[in-house]
Amino acid sequence: MNSFEEYIKKNLSKPRYEHSVSVAETAKKIGEGLGLPDRDITELYTAGLCHDIAKELPKDEQAKIIEKHQTLSEDDKISRSTLHQLAGAYLARELFGINDRIFGMIRYHCTGSPDMTLCEKIIFISDYIEPLREHKSCVLLREYFIKRKLDTRLIDLTALKCCKRTLDLLSAKGYPIHPLTVQTYEKLKKIAYE
Ligand SMILES: [Fe+2]
Ligand SMILES: [Fe+2]
Repeated sequence: MNSFEEYIKKNLSKPRYEHSVSVAETAKKIGEGLGLPDRDITELYTAGLCHDIAKELPKDEQAKIIEKHQTLSEDDKISRSTLHQLAGAYLARELFGINDRIFGMIRYHCTGSPDMTLCEKIIFISDYIEPLREHKSCVLLREYFIKRKLDTRLIDLTALKCCKRTLDLLSAKGYPIHPLTVQTYEKLKKIAYE
């Protein structure tokens, strides 16, 4: 067990710890399947372990972690359920000195971003399709992903479906939608129909 895993095992609830390990394993497997270099595989695994590191902290505490480093954007103020992505990235940097690539993978794991790198997209989709997710839409998305040939196009198409699912779910519940998710959806839609 590496130091990241030891930290999350000690500081997160059991289900969140297990979800984090599962995201790390899923992201690693996808990275390996795509033939990514060892550095990317290691970073994907680390980002998976750390992605929800701030999720169980009170929202005000999450906001405080962010405000130590930058002003909270209006978008982040509206969409408080996604605060933990940026708070988690800063917290992982404070605790472990993670590099900018891992920072980005944690930073966009729930909203997505129109300019996501391949590894950021892998963490984004792994958070949805990891095998412990039982929600029907996650199961369907996982089946969609597993049954197809693994390439970067499949990563884009799956990320597009993740965005669509988030947008549908949030609208149905009347919850605030982070503009980054809408922007990511629009960008991926363009790529999908190229
Ligand atoms: Fe999360
Ligand atoms: Fe997660």
